[in-house]
Amino acid sequence: MKITKMQIKDYDEVFSLWKNTEGMGLHSDTDSKKGILRYLKRNPGMSFVARENGRLVGTVLCGQDGRRGHLYHLAIDRSYRKKGIAKALVNRALSKLAAIGFSKCTLCAFVKNYAGRKFWRHTGWTERPDIIMMAKDTGK
Ligand SMILES: CC(C)(COP(=O)(O)OP(=O)(O)OC[C@H]1O[C@@H](n2cnc3c(N)ncnc32)[C@H](O)[C@@H]1OP(=O)(O)O)[C@@H](O)C(=O)NCCC(=O)NCCS
Repeated sequence: MKITKMQIKDYDEVFSLWKNTEGMGLHSDTDSKKGILRYLKRNPGMSFVARENGRLVGTVLCGQDGRRGHLYHLAIDRSYRKKGIAKALVNRALSKLAAIGFSKCTLCAFVKNYAGRKFWRHTGWTERPDIIMMAKDTGK
């Protein structure tokens, strides 16, 4: 298994994995090729893909907003799960955040994504039921 920085040329394979993965909240704007290009340019060298014999089998998006890091779209192809690929991808992202000076990372999970939440807890993440997420359109 090989982990490399995500590049925009990976997009078609990345999006195809996301479309076929449960628990992904895909957005027509931010997850379009243009949206992902913008994200990768804003957060260079922080998002990663995993390949097994050339085949794209895992992704994680990682970025920072100047205060802390944030992860999105951790997804592993069903046939390649429970081999440590997600843990390796997340560790690469966390190491990158630490290397550029960020001490904290956050992520969002759907409340009903019980398996995903179990993975996060198992790998040392803490749920924050004292916080709720809020959202509003900007009008763009
Ligand atoms: C959750 C997901 C990313 C895990 O990927 P994975 O490559 O199978 O995970 P890993 O093999 O790296 O597992 C690392 C550890 O977590 C454990 N683990 C993996 N999935 C788990 C789960 N659903 N529940 C509990 N533990 C889990 C593994 O057994 C392993 O434990 P160990 O280190 O003690 O041996 C994968 O199942 C997936 O893509 N799910 C759908 C998308 C999703 O929900 N993503 C998260 C969105 S918030």
